Amino acid sequence: MCGIVGYIGNKKALPLLIDGLKHLEYRGYDSAGVAVLGDDLNVVKTQGRIKVLEKKLKEFPLKGTLGIGHTRWATHGIPNEVNAHPHYSESKNIVVVHNGIVENYLELKKMLIKEGHNFRSETDTEVIPYLIEEFYDGNLLEAVQRALNIIEGSYAIAVIAKSEKDKLVVARNDSPLVIGLGKNENFVASDITALLPYTHKIITLENGDIAEITKKEVNIYDKQGNKIERPVQSIQWNAEDAQKGGFKHFMLKEIFEEPHVIKEAMRGRIKNDSIEIPELKNLSKDYLKNINQVFFVACGTAYHAGVVGKYLSEKYLKIPSKAEVASEFRYSDPVIDDKTLLFVISQSGETADTLAALRLGKEKGAKTIGIVNVVGSSVAREVDNVVYVHAGPEIAVASTKAYVAQVEVIGLIISYLAKSLGKLSESSERTIVKELKMLPEKAQSILDRADAIAEFVYNTTKNIEETFYIGRNLDYALSLEGALKLKEISYVHAEGYPAGELKHGPLALVTPKSLIIAIDTYAPLYKKTLSNIKEVKARKGKVLAITRKGYKDMESVADKTFYVPETIPDLSPIISVIPLQLIAYYTAESRGLDIDKPRNLAKSVTVE
Ligand code: F6R
Repeated sequence: MCGIVGYIGNKKALPLLIDGLKHLEYRGYDSAGVAVLGDDLNVVKTQGRIKVLEKKLKEFPLKGTLGIGHTRWATHGIPNEVNAHPHYSESKNIVVVHNGIVENYLELKKMLIKEGHNFRSETDTEVIPYLIEEFYDGNLLEAVQRALNIIEGSYAIAVIAKSEKDKLVVARNDSPLVIGLGKNENFVASDITALLPYTHKIITLENGDIAEITKKEVNIYDKQGNKIERPVQSIQWNAEDAQKGGFKHFMLKEIFEEPHVIKEAMRGRIKNDSIEIPELKNLSKDYLKNINQVFFVACGTAYHAGVVGKYLSEKYLKIPSKAEVASEFRYSDPVIDDKTLLFVISQSGETADTLAALRLGKEKGAKTIGIVNVVGSSVAREVDNVVYVHAGPEIAVASTKAYVAQVEVIGLIISYLAKSLGKLSESSERTIVKELKMLPEKAQSILDRADAIAEFVYNTTKNIEETFYIGRNLDYALSLEGALKLKEISYVHAEGYPAGELKHGPLALVTPKSLIIAIDTYAPLYKKTLSNIKEVKARKGKVLAITRKGYKDMESVADKTFYVPETIPDLSPIISVIPLQLIAYYTAESRGLDIDKPRNLAKSVTVE
């Protein structure tokens, strides 16, 4: 998730690009750059925020009325000046800005290097201008079309060629791109926010669209090169609404991004229906065979993703596995040696306790795998192998989409390791892949019913004094995360508890003023949790059950039942967490709280 802007018209492009980038800085902020076509095609870029770029531009003012700009949130290659966009083609006659991930960039790069090309950056993006240049014979649109035919992955791109001074070519696939229409000028941006100060007339490109934009015209083509029309919409949002994509809070926006996040987390990791984790290719079978224990260490929500990991690891790898809170792990003198595999999970990659746990693990000889969102962060740099979750920048303090991506990536890694150890049959792998591919749609179907959750919350949670989230196995892992979400943003006391453990104490607390969120999606233990729900009902607690589609008998037991789509039990947490996130969100919203910045909490906890 980065920000893209583009301008073509009669005005000076540079101030418009910089203004647009400032509106998009919330999408990415580790480096930025602009390219302007005047007498020459020049690029200025820097590591850091837009204000650093502005300072540099004072020394190199770029003149011209056609330009593109980018604010980056690194996915491939650390945040530095070389990896910042725009990227030149080898001859510097073409420039490109790109959002998304080129899945087959390694193959393409290898091919181009073999043909004698030299690359400058570590990014996946750089293959795009190089390929366009390969195909370029005076028609930029055609060259972009031909390059995109061999590029696999997600992209929103904007491209300029030095020899075509009157044109900007843009394209999208699985990464948003909009065109803003002006009088004798046109704009492009990765989201509407950047365009609103200049125009409210917007065309939203669809997947596969390529557009050739001049200052007077916009011509859009489909993948086959047929000219197509897309509707012009009149957008009435203000700039703040637009940053949040029209959602009231970043948290809600981020929850609604989850279908896309699920897709991105598996990108490049499923090849011909087989699970591959290229980042772990160097783990030999001999090494894997020797592992005798697995740890998942992290804090907060990331720790809860680790609890899911522990269950999956034991089930599939058949190796003793533990999830530990990093702040405890680091002072517990854990028994670790070179046969230990240590997973370190962190959205920010900067959490002090998590880093300390990682360093301790390494010191004792463990091999470490980082599951990290922020590219180039401390955890990412210090682990032996990093697997990025590609959730995009998370702005709300409460972590939502990063959790979804973490759980998915952990599932992918465990499946991959189990396969490497000969512990996952081909048919089980095929089933996992088939189900994974259906998850984005299933997640969307839950979000389409968000109103039902909101209604339940508005009608039920006002006089609640105590909230329990209960579940077994993976549903227990989810109950911990559901309770944390509710606590941190709505300030309602909540506990996540193993469903079978209630009667050993906490059941004493259950009264008609208790709300019990019962998570019963894990098919093998459905009936067991159902019995625990009956125990709660006998004490007149209110029960909202989150269960799998088809488990109709729940309706006669719970006060309200919310169904999540069926999938294999081990993938269920990826989507079953969504209703829990929505419960927390709507509870906080009904109380008028500052949801994106809850009291006493910070997004990145860099002190112990
Ligand atoms: C909860 C939340 C925190 C973080 C925790 C770890 O919504 O956001 O509990 O999960 O502080 O942060 P990272 O993942 O950045 O290490």
